[in-house]
Amino acid sequence: MVHYIIVITLLALGLSPHCLSSKTVGGGYLYPQFYGHSCPKAQEIVRNVVAKAVAKEPRMAASLLRLHFHDCFVKGCDASILLDSSGSIISEKRSNPNRNSARGFEVIDEIKAVMEKECPHTVSCADIMALAARDSTVLTGGPSWEVPLGRRDARGASLSGSNNNIPAPNNTFQTILTKFKLQGLGIVDLVALSGSHTIGNARCTSFRQRLYNQSGNGQPDNTLDQSYASQLRRNCPRSGGDQNLFFLDFVSPIKFDNSYFKNLLANKGLLNSDQVLFTKNGESRELVKTYAYNQELFFLQFAKSMIKMGNISPLTGYRGEIRQNCRKINA
Ligand code: HEM
Ligand SMILES: *[C@@H]1O[C@H](CO)[C@@H](O)[C@H](O)[C@H]1NC(C)=O
Ligand SMILES: *[C@@H]1O[C@H](CO)[C@@H](O)[C@H](O)[C@H]1NC(C)=O
Repeated sequence: MVHYIIVITLLALGLSPHCLSSKTVGGGYLYPQFYGHSCPKAQEIVRNVVAKAVAKEPRMAASLLRLHFHDCFVKGCDASILLDSSGSIISEKRSNPNRNSARGFEVIDEIKAVMEKECPHTVSCADIMALAARDSTVLTGGPSWEVPLGRRDARGASLSGSNNNIPAPNNTFQTILTKFKLQGLGIVDLVALSGSHTIGNARCTSFRQRLYNQSGNGQPDNTLDQSYASQLRRNCPRSGGDQNLFFLDFVSPIKFDNSYFKNLLANKGLLNSDQVLFTKNGESRELVKTYAYNQELFFLQFAKSMIKMGNISPLTGYRGEIRQNCRKINA
């Protein structure tokens, strides 16, 4: 009560109440101890379920990491990607970047179910995804970081946002960079976060163009190593096999390390959007080299950029809601 009076007084005086805790005034920023009192086991619950899922299927780490990215680039990190279609909601799950590709939803459901038992109506689906992305990185050998928390869940989705904001694998370097800049991220974030492709898979349809007809002249991409290309063509034919899977980092596909960047130096990036980081821009080329030679710098920057990405337009305070089921808004 006293707290509110202070806040109201500050507001009346035209002063910012930011010196008080953001929880009380319902505004602002995220911080790692957000659930410290309300759900002390929150982080442990996420870690345990993710560990179990990744032990069962190593690729799940990659899938969970990507979910957070595809969530954050659409209306901010607000769990909009988790909503199924219903009523006026058109699910982002059917967008071009997500269809036949985004996965890990059942793992998020499982985390949420355990969470609701331990601390009902307390931990947001958006925070669960941010934690799952961090834990997935750590479990596969990557860096750790403290995840700022306090995001709330959206009451809507944006199919158009999902189609437009998330870069496509055949976008130009400039288009990709522009899409990052629209989210408040820069070239350093772009290169570091692309390092996520050190784990996980991509489908034939995501890179076929490079193998057969890169620029409409019937020729493969000349920035793709020829023997690697012919190896890829074996299981990614000119037509058919769209959903066939390939490792994004063929050297160490389930280990979070810097071999993704080493591959780029050898013209062995799988996606066009990977290889352009090395071939189309001087500044990003230097960053690729830096991370290829120095895994520690990559890890440090990756952690920083993940925190930055996780801060994209969160719903805080009284905005949004804490969904009870991550797939639908509360009644
Ligand atoms: C820079 C622009 C990016 C483009 C164009 C891009 C594109 C793609 C594509 C096309 C796939 C394969 C999808 C499929 O064929 O099913 C993929 C997979 C993946 N992406 Fe990205 N991506 C980008 C950035 C990122 C970022 C920023 C992250 C995470 C922070 C990320 C994490 C992943 C992961 C982990 C996978 C593997 C997922 C799995 O195996 O389930 N990507 N990406
Ligand atoms: C990129 O891929 C999409 C989907 O396969 C295709 O429709 C589009 O024409 C491609 N764009 C370019 C510039 O090649
Ligand atoms: C390559 O693509 C162009 C248009 O993008 C098309 O006109 C041409 O026929 C294709 N060539 C081959 C060999 O597929």
